[in-house]
Amino acid sequence: MRDALLAAGFTDEGLLGLLGAPAYAALARGETVPALRATRGDTPLETLVRLFLLQQPVPRARAAAILPVEQCLASGWLTPAGTARATGGAGDGAQVAATVDVRPYAGPGEREKDWFIVSDLGCAVGGASGIGGRGRSADADVVLGVGGASTTLAQLTVRTPVTAALDLGTGSGIQALHASQHASRVTATDVNPRALRCAALTLALSGAPAADLREGSLYEPVGDETYDLIVSNPPFVISPVGTVPAASGDARSRGCLTYREAGVGGDDLCRTLVQGAGQRLNEGGYAQFLANWQHVADEDWTERLRSWVPSGCDAWIVQREVQDVTQYAELWLRDAGEHRMDPAGYAARYDAWLEEFARRRTTAVGFGWITLRRTGSQAPSVTVEEWPHPVEQPLGGTVRAHFGRRDQLRTYDDAALLASHLRLAPDVVQEQVGLPGAEDPEHIVLRQQRGMRRATRVDTVGAGFAGACDGTLPAGRILDAIAQLIGEDPVRLRDSMPPRIRLLMEQGFLEPVG
Ligand SMILES: C[S@@+](CC[C@H](N)C(=O)[O-])C[C@H]1O[C@@H](n2cnc3c(N)ncnc32)[C@H](O)[C@@H]1O
Repeated sequence: MRDALLAAGFTDEGLLGLLGAPAYAALARGETVPALRATRGDTPLETLVRLFLLQQPVPRARAAAILPVEQCLASGWLTPAGTARATGGAGDGAQVAATVDVRPYAGPGEREKDWFIVSDLGCAVGGASGIGGRGRSADADVVLGVGGASTTLAQLTVRTPVTAALDLGTGSGIQALHASQHASRVTATDVNPRALRCAALTLALSGAPAADLREGSLYEPVGDETYDLIVSNPPFVISPVGTVPAASGDARSRGCLTYREAGVGGDDLCRTLVQGAGQRLNEGGYAQFLANWQHVADEDWTERLRSWVPSGCDAWIVQREVQDVTQYAELWLRDAGEHRMDPAGYAARYDAWLEEFARRRTTAVGFGWITLRRTGSQAPSVTVEEWPHPVEQPLGGTVRAHFGRRDQLRTYDDAALLASHLRLAPDVVQEQVGLPGAEDPEHIVLRQQRGMRRATRVDTVGAGFAGACDGTLPAGRILDAIAQLIGEDPVRLRDSMPPRIRLLMEQGFLEPVG
């Protein structure tokens, strides 16, 4: 099957060439009309795009020129289609249709690998029509393809060679596929058995080693086994499960959508995942999660997240976005296509979401990234911060460097800090803002060009210090020189500057030499 797809040029590059950038981008948004217009011919590539991406039946003879059709029908990739199918029958077999969505996928830095992602039909995430109401996608156990969250996690993940990796809630298998490139063993779990079958196909069709697939909830399928890397893009959506009035005839009335909602209250699933990772990480191992968390009235959200961090782990938690409860409810009602239901049903479900949030005293929901690293240190370093600005992806290297700096700084007291030789990171530039013609700038900002692309305000002493850090003089000597220059007491400067220098180091503006 893989050979047949590649021979037809069914690759990410091939798709871009065939569809052109706008139709290609529209397809990634879940919009199919531009791609349908671009695939009216009968080349092998057009046929495969119509079959596997656009859910169009194609003439059996045309498919047979590209694919081993008999075997595809026998093993279930394809199903007979034709005139009778349109009226609900099995089809006369003059045409064939795909049973799953197969789409070329170029992972960050892995473009040449010719990967494929297998998921349920019609599950391209996004698009104006939402997920609901399209074939299987109305079902609660639908297996989604690659979405924005999938690629965000894939790009965040630290990609160092490891022995054992765990992908919890594997879905289409995208995270397991990435992990298979740098882990000797990959375990992939899901509560949804359909997801495990899709993940197996994704790996096989991509030419990747098979994973150890296990069915079950959260850590239950892996018990106390330990890993060097745990990744999860979990069903983090906080929803009023079980209390929402069901739309009649809606498969979702059975409960929640497995791919996005945990079926437990509030942010409990994310908390359980994070807390459970500590004991399942090997020394030096990373656990990386996407998560949602509640902002509760009269509670500091950063404290809520700090309380999730398991002992023995450093943590870096970044809140990327906050939505008030109304924006949040609308986002997920629309994602499920519920805005297209009858107005009264929509209003009832919207009301149930707000009721649930009111009951939990939740005012807003945060979305972000949680990374743990097991260090066994008695004094774990936990950073919880808000950084909603654009970052440079892939960020895996930056995540690793963040924890490397924490390890280093743990060993530096103030005296060691002042004795160390520091260097301004090569991607840092200085920006000055002020009135034109004014002698002194009002603000000086140090800005990173790479990674987190952080910006931090400094005063003239901070800017002077950072600018002088070229690795030749110890930090303390630079401060003495600045003190002399500005007529400041050098002892006072040596006393006051270490916390600020430490912060600049923690955030990667300054790095130790050697
Ligand atoms: C948002 S999807 C992520 C899929 C894929 N890993 C990705 O990154 O695109 C969440 C997955 O978690 C699975 N899931 C839902 N509840 C779970 C649970 N309690 N334990 C394990 N997996 C669960 C769903 O079936 C779904 O495949």
